[in-house]
Amino acid sequence: MATILALETSCDETAAAVVRDRTVLSSVVASQINIHQPYGGIVPEVASRYHVTAVGESISAALDQAGLHWAEIDGVATTCAPGLVGALLVGLTAGKTLAMVHQKPFLGIHHLEGHIYANYLAHPDLQPPYLCLLVSGGHTSLIYVKDCGHYQTLGQTRDDAAGEAFDKVARLLGLDYPGGPVIDRLAQQGNPQAFPLPEGNISLPGGGFHPYDSSFSGLKTAVLRLVEKLRAEGVDPLPIHDLAASFQATVARSLTKRVMACAQAYGLTTVALGGGVAANSGLRHQLQQAAEQQGLRVMIPPLSLCTDNAAMIGCAAADHLNRGHRSTLALGVQSRLDLARVMELYQPIPMA
Ligand code: KG4
Ligand code: ZN
Repeated sequence: MATILALETSCDETAAAVVRDRTVLSSVVASQINIHQPYGGIVPEVASRYHVTAVGESISAALDQAGLHWAEIDGVATTCAPGLVGALLVGLTAGKTLAMVHQKPFLGIHHLEGHIYANYLAHPDLQPPYLCLLVSGGHTSLIYVKDCGHYQTLGQTRDDAAGEAFDKVARLLGLDYPGGPVIDRLAQQGNPQAFPLPEGNISLPGGGFHPYDSSFSGLKTAVLRLVEKLRAEGVDPLPIHDLAASFQATVARSLTKRVMACAQAYGLTTVALGGGVAANSGLRHQLQQAAEQQGLRVMIPPLSLCTDNAAMIGCAAADHLNRGHRSTLALGVQSRLDLARVMELYQPIPMA
């Protein structure tokens, strides 16, 4: 059993949590959405500065809410990759300092491994192997989860991430940032079949399409051309609900098809979701329907665990610490890091 104080500052949320194995004892998330909204996207330098001002208070609040003292904490964990370098550095420096001062083991955690672990908080009985679809503002990956620290990426986007596509399409429709929740809300009142859009297939040199990779940049451009065409035809106001519903249904269909094909090809009977776009009602609905038809079990964490939080980081760290893994205090941050390299973040386990 491991009790972890975890920090997450890889992007635009300053988060701290206390987690005991697969149980959340406290979780604090200070969102910066309002700060970045006027810019229509995240400004990295602004994000770092906000983390500096918010991280101390978030840590105190997480410890207070858990009702624990340092003596009861077994380790300190922070996200160290991938993400915005300046933002990651704030959490990493805070985490390493606390580990040093309180003489606790320190663990750097891969952000995507954290998103995978959100599923264990929601479903403590979940065990590998399973397939995890990670869809966030920065990633769209189909991951074969083999064990703690052991992952194989089977499919990914070749350009824009799914969340990025939602944000960019929202922007070109004149909607607020972040675009995902806004499109999701508008889509409820639209016709998903109103406009046929491309599903973002990747052609293979020998013919046919890549079964698991996708491209959302082409889909975003298709929406842009469609909007230009409607405007040129004098359509005013734009059929915003139908556009949102058609776009959302296309993304959901594209992802669902790939998940189902992948699960079948690798003989995996459980599918888990993670990342901010897992909050999307269209995706949840299509995936659940398809999984039911194919006899698969689908795990979807609650919304608060889908978007960035530190509880998921603490859950991953607890599993690593229970296995004797720990990072050195010389660990740095990395803007990119393949999930297959997670174990490089830890020292070899000393022989007994
Ligand atoms: O995982 P996350 O909180 O941060 C990253 O690691 O990127 O994901 C943020 C992304 C944003 O692009 C946001 O638009 C998208 O998740 N998102 C959604 C929904 N809620 C958040 N996309 C579609 N539908 C939603 N309901
Ligand atoms: Zn994330």
